Amino acid sequence: MNYTQAEKMLKSCGQEHVLAYWKKLSKKEQGELLAQVATIEPKNVKYCQSALKQGGAVADSSKGKAPKVAELKGTALKTAIAAGEKELRAGRVAALLVAGGQGSRLGYDGPKGCYSIGPITGAPLFYFHARKILARSIRYGASIPFYVMTSEANNEATVKCFEENEYFGLNPDDVFFFTQGMWPGMTKDGKVILDKPGHVFMSPDGHGGLLAALKKSGALADMKKRGIKSVFFFQVDNPLVEIADPAFIGYHVLEKSEYSLKLCAKRDPFEKVGMPMQFGKTFRMVEYTEMTKEQCLRKKNGKLYFLYGSPAIHVFDRAFLDREASKAMPLHLAFKKIPTVVNGKVVKPTEPNGYKFEKFIFDILPNAKRAAFLAFEQKDEFSPVKNAEGSDSPETCKADMQAKWTRWFAELGVKIPRNLPLELDPVYALDASDLRSLGLWLAAD
Ligand code: UTP
Repeated sequence: MNYTQAEKMLKSCGQEHVLAYWKKLSKKEQGELLAQVATIEPKNVKYCQSALKQGGAVADSSKGKAPKVAELKGTALKTAIAAGEKELRAGRVAALLVAGGQGSRLGYDGPKGCYSIGPITGAPLFYFHARKILARSIRYGASIPFYVMTSEANNEATVKCFEENEYFGLNPDDVFFFTQGMWPGMTKDGKVILDKPGHVFMSPDGHGGLLAALKKSGALADMKKRGIKSVFFFQVDNPLVEIADPAFIGYHVLEKSEYSLKLCAKRDPFEKVGMPMQFGKTFRMVEYTEMTKEQCLRKKNGKLYFLYGSPAIHVFDRAFLDREASKAMPLHLAFKKIPTVVNGKVVKPTEPNGYKFEKFIFDILPNAKRAAFLAFEQKDEFSPVKNAEGSDSPETCKADMQAKWTRWFAELGVKIPRNLPLELDPVYALDASDLRSLGLWLAAD
């Protein structure tokens, strides 16, 4: 893109101020600005402007109904596991990780997936995810391709982390990195913000940016070529997640669902997780920030009306993702303090001055022809690393990891002394049954 093309494009969406400092920029800065402008699509700018006018995605204030949530036990559980195992053996399952977030609450300078979480080895979050995928693919004798969404800011460091660790044992041909899109930040009157004289402020387009990025990068086409049917979606900050869990995959397939969600009972009405609700015939996720007072009420027996929250553990039908990938998604607005250029000087505002735009993956839930909801025990599968200290921190997560492994040993009648550091490589033991067979092997030796 040259200057004339950039000027024309920016004029077409009312953003010519982006070139206001052109003459003061060095040749290098000019080149960088043109390259950045080339990534901005006028239709996206207009889409952000109309989202601003509407005030962003609108929450549903009607009460809604709690969805039917399955608790698999006995024969139903066995049937689901068998169905899931069949999918895994046939190589029809992929793992999809969203790891493009900025991790601002944790305050770690690098991709969150590189954050050290192994209680003994200090292994990074990526290690636990990758080793689980490897263990699952060894168990079922078929590869589980691993799609990792990064952002412009962390893609290079993420790929480097995998390379330096030899892909944690995975075959590099089965790991597919792709980068999510970026949206420009805007003032309330729809002007994109310059955070330097030759640079537009941009931020990642949210985990919902996944769909467009899957399509643009060729990841969706790759899934199709490999014959993938079910796509297991998870977030980078939860090392307890049971990736490609056969019961969940099986339940999803048996229910002929397009979008399945694992849900866990909320500990209190204000827990920071979204809640799927039913409005008429459709399901929709209501974010914790959007819950009305009515939606937080308890029944007479003390139980919450809306008991189940979503920790963002999903299975998608691949064809559903394909169908949704070209559709526009609602934009959620976040009013933030964004550095801005005033009279050629960068000013750091003390009050929010501009909007960031994000898409949320669960906004495609209402479009699913069929959805399914499966309950799970929070303590076994969900302990995210969100904050540097306190709740949902590395400390609580490590304790929860160790507690889970301790429970596996307890199932075998082995008591692990309190405070004994414990860490298991998922390839060594993916669950208690692996420990059991290892014990038998040792006894037989
Ligand atoms: P969070 O909402 O917890 O955001 O992301 P975050 O960026 O990791 O952390 P904070 O809010 O800045 O502290 C949930 C999941 O969605 C991914 C994250 O990497 C994480 O796995 N995500 C989030 C993206 O991939 N892209 C985004 O633009 C936002």
